[in-house]
Amino acid sequence: MSSNPMEISTDKTQASLQLAIKEQLTQSRARTLRLFEGVSADTFRCQANPDFSPVGWHLGHIGFTEGLWLLEQEAGFPPLFSEYRRLFAADGLPKTERQNLPSFTEICSYLSQIRNQVWDYLQEAPLDSRAWLWHWLVQHESQHCETIIWVLQLHRQKVRPIPFWPKVSDWSLDSSVKVPPIQATSLPDQNMVHVEGGRFLLGNNGLDALDNEKQAHWVQVDSFWIDRFPVTQGQYQQFIEAEGYRQPQYWSKEGWQWLQDHPVNHPTHWIPNGGEDHPVCGVSWYEADAYARFVGKRLPTEAEWEKAACWHPAQRDPHAFPICKRNYPWGNHAPEADHCNYGGLNWGTTPVNQYPQGQSAYGCFDLLGNVWEWTHTWFYPFPGFEPYPYKGYSMTYFDHQHRILKGGSWATQAPVLRGAFRNWYEPRIRIHFAGFRCAYG
Ligand code: AVJ
Ligand code: FE
Repeated sequence: MSSNPMEISTDKTQASLQLAIKEQLTQSRARTLRLFEGVSADTFRCQANPDFSPVGWHLGHIGFTEGLWLLEQEAGFPPLFSEYRRLFAADGLPKTERQNLPSFTEICSYLSQIRNQVWDYLQEAPLDSRAWLWHWLVQHESQHCETIIWVLQLHRQKVRPIPFWPKVSDWSLDSSVKVPPIQATSLPDQNMVHVEGGRFLLGNNGLDALDNEKQAHWVQVDSFWIDRFPVTQGQYQQFIEAEGYRQPQYWSKEGWQWLQDHPVNHPTHWIPNGGEDHPVCGVSWYEADAYARFVGKRLPTEAEWEKAACWHPAQRDPHAFPICKRNYPWGNHAPEADHCNYGGLNWGTTPVNQYPQGQSAYGCFDLLGNVWEWTHTWFYPFPGFEPYPYKGYSMTYFDHQHRILKGGSWATQAPVLRGAFRNWYEPRIRIHFAGFRCAYG
């Protein structure tokens, strides 16, 4: 025991950091395991579709990742269960060969053996300088949980398809089919807000920042208009009814090609009755882009989206960070249940006007939670980008093949819910939790 008061306070800090991290890891694991309640052995092992690994693989991969980055790379412990490396490493087996899995009980025992060693290491880990790695792991688990929910919903949809819209194969190919006239509205419409031009601080240098969020840097954003709400199902229905899925003039060249190769006529998710005010959900980037053209608008860039979400225009001093730039649309307080629809609290979307407490300084609703929002921007590195904890976490995807999504969905957990978080997927992927809002100008 030291008699130096400075050291005692350092000890206290270390102890309280340990406690905070322990609590986050524990809560995160409890959330993960809850997702597996009632999941059959079949669902555990099967691919819902070729783009996704089985949910059981995600569970094993969560444990493997924790063992690899905390125990092997950070603590220098010998690997636990090296026979699982090929199976559960992200760069091990192709997705189609991940179905030959240990049972749920076996994977749970693997996870808890890793966790026990993590608790040992936590006692001695240098938390002040390396806290970001622990944050990274919690966020890694959170992101896989969202994918697990997605895959479980895909399995269920196979049994219960969307009953509302006709199947593409039943669609009349009659070219004389009557297209309802499009209502010409003057733009910007009354449900858009204006964002003044100027310099904006894009990105995040906080402890929670993933490699792709750094370095925060100033960008010039010209003035623009952006929708106050995500595009609703009711609005999107007009696109469907106006035969939007059959009118090449609304689609990008790549989007129209995608549609010919994968004919669809409605989102992957649809609420048959009373869903008008819910955000449209389950669309590819191509569909989002086509709808935006249909209404004479466009998708926002990432910088526009993040400025509409996190900037406070009343405080214009560009050097006043972090006063102008906030972590969340409502300010810097951690998300709570009345800010937005996140963390599976509602297990589905909510009407887009349900969370006035979560408005941004510009008056936009639902920027965080409810649905991920496609942006126009390709995933790219910020100036000064340095990969961590491994090269390929983000870098593999800086390939002009992935578009950025912002804001999180109803299934996104608190550790990854923030304005600066960047998600990315190929534009063809019909993300089960993704919608969008439009911009103009
Ligand atoms: C950022 C959600 C696209 O799940 O593929 C998880 C996150 N990276 N493990 C993914 C990720 C490594 C990633 N996404
Ligand atoms: Fe992963």
